[in-house]
Order: sequence, then structure tokens, then C-alpha cells
Amino acid sequence: MTSKKILVTGGAGYIGAHTVVELYTNGYSPVVIDNFSKSDRTLLEGIEKITGIPVVFYEGDCADKEFLKRVFKKEGKFDGVMHFAAYKSVGESVEQPIMYYRNNLDSLLTLLEVMKEQRVNNLIFSSSCTVYGEPDTIPVDEQAPFKKAESPYGATKQMCEQILEDVVKADQNLNVISLRYFNPIGAHPSAMLGELPIDKPNNLVPYITQTAAGIREKLVIFGDDYDTSDGTCIRDFIHIVDLAAAHVKAIDKLSEAGENKGYQYYNLGTGRGVSVLQLVKEFIEVAGIKLNYEMGPRRAGDVVKTYANPTKAKNDLNWSAQYTAKDALRDAWAWEKKISTSRK
Ligand code: UD1
Repeated sequence: MTSKKILVTGGAGYIGAHTVVELYTNGYSPVVIDNFSKSDRTLLEGIEKITGIPVVFYEGDCADKEFLKRVFKKEGKFDGVMHFAAYKSVGESVEQPIMYYRNNLDSLLTLLEVMKEQRVNNLIFSSSCTVYGEPDTIPVDEQAPFKKAESPYGATKQMCEQILEDVVKADQNLNVISLRYFNPIGAHPSAMLGELPIDKPNNLVPYITQTAAGIREKLVIFGDDYDTSDGTCIRDFIHIVDLAAAHVKAIDKLSEAGENKGYQYYNLGTGRGVSVLQLVKEFIEVAGIKLNYEMGPRRAGDVVKTYANPTKAKNDLNWSAQYTAKDALRDAWAWEKKISTSRK
């Protein structure tokens, strides 16, 4: 039996690359496209080191219809698509909303058009817990309403989900699963693959590890006067390998024979809320080093408290997180040490 061929847009990025590894190890044949606007070839090399398989790869933009059609033509029929290609910086989206709307919406719309033309019917979409805004109750389950998005980035995820719901309604053949990520952190346990921000990191864990590695002077914790146990925000930090594994479960589900699966969406989190300060302390413990950090003002647009109720993914996808936040911090630190040494 030939293995199922999956197109992975944004496969050279942090979440995409870890998912490509999981696809290979579960017998799928991923085909990566990436335009390297927010990534470089390092993670593709990491995938090859872990799997021993040369990555099938095309450089180009997912919003470029002619490029996409060429890839579909060259590769023959795909069994499914995983769409990771998107911008993800909350702050940048506030400064450059047109760029965010153009990029995140265009790439999805173009992909949907080409999938329809080529009769490819299974799609996994990278969504985010940001669609819930500041939730009324936590843990957040999938019934929680979409609140007004805190940023243009968040609005693009809400709009993309709306587009997908409408397109699925109009096309009986299309099956889509949106995966609403909480906070992915960590790296592959082999230290061959991890997060590699091309500029100054926006996210917490790469900022922690770069500070620990001496690349950044200090970590600033954004706000210690929130209404939480220690005053810092609460998040659901999920190991990147757990998150990647969920994508394989999702595509497995869409690949099952049977009736049309329609539009489905799942939270991907651990179900545990951890404060920012708690995570920083866990990092210090796991890494066994000092970390230069201080409390600073709140960051605009931050949700105070959110973590997932991941029961739906457990019941329907037979998926749950296996790693702890400490595991993720240990792996992130091993990766940082490796990558920062190799760059010196
Ligand atoms: C945000 C988005 C999420 C998106 C992710 C991708 C929201 C609510 N969440 O996650 O959907 O997928 O970005 O980039 O829009 N922090 C510090 N110091 C730092 C960096 C972060 O204290 O230097 C704090 C933040 O204030 C926050 C927590 O750490 O409380 C996590 O921040 P971050 O890693 O940026 O992720 P989110 O903002 O939760």
C-alpha cells in the first residue's frame, strides 16, 4: 500500500516542521511548501537528521495560485492538506494589519480554490485559542463563543474559521478540522528541531531560552498585577511534539472511510493552567541556571487567564498531551544550547 501524501504549507516553520516528523514516523508522505518569509532551511535539515529522509520541498508562496497548481500537478493527487502557513505575531499584526489580513486570508482562500479544482477534500487548519478572546469560564471548551479578537492576528484566525465553515457547508465533499492551539512550547527531544525565531522572539519560551543563552539581556514578565494567584497571566503550555501528534490523529480521522465529516474543531491543550512566573521558575529549576528576569508593565492585548478543556480531542481523536511543561522546557533548553552554540 502506498503511503498517503499530505501537502504541508509552512512546513519549515516551528509547528509545521515538528508535524512533518510525526507524519513521516506514522507512515505518511509529507510534501512541504514554504516561502521562508519567517523561517529558513535549518528546520528542514533538522527533519532530515531525525527521520533520515530527504524532505520533499518546494519554495514558494501559498497565496501564489500558479505556484500551488504547479506543486499539485507535479506531485499528483494529495490525500490531504495541513495548512500552517500564516503570520502569527500578535504585536506585529497590530502594527501591520493589512499585511496580516492579506497574508493569512489570501493563503487560505487560494489553497481552498486549488484544493477544489484538484478535488482534494481533507484539510487540517492551524487555528488558535485566540479565537475565544478572554473566555468567561475556564477551562475553555469548544462551546465557548468567539469574543471580539484582541488583535488583527486573532481576527484572521476567527475569519479563517468562518470561511472554512461556510465553504464546508457549500461543498459536501470537503472535510475540515480546525485545531485550536493553546501555547505550544518546547522542542523535539532529539534537540535536532525547535523554535527558531528569525528576529527578536515575541513568545515567552524562546525569550526565556535566548536570555539564558546570553543572546538577550533580560526577560521582562509582562504584568504581575493580574487577578491570578501570583499576579502573572495563566496559559496552557503544550509540548510541541504533543501538538504535532494531534495533527496525525486529525488527518487519520479525515482519512477514515465513511460519510462526510463536515467541519470540526478541537482544542489542543493539556488542560492545566500554569502562570508565566511559575513557568519561569520551572525553567530555572530544569536548566539549573540563573535567569535574569524582572517584572514589567502589562502587554497590550494579553488575555489574563486561559487553559483548555481538551476532552473533545480525547474522545474524538483519541489524543491527549503526554508531556509536561517541564519536559518541554528541558527540550527547549537543549535545543537552544545546540542552536546558539552552532551560531557563535
Ligand atoms: C499569542 C496568541 C496565540 C498565538 C501566539 C502565537 C492570544 C491571546 N494568544 O499567545 O493565539 O498562537 O501568540 O504567537 O492572542 N510574556 C512575557 N514576557 C515575554 C513574552 C511573553 O511575560 O517576553 C508573557 C505574555 O504576556 C503572556 C505569556 O507570556 O502572558 C505567553 O505569551 P506568548 O508566548 O507571547 O503567547 P500568547 O500571547 O499567550
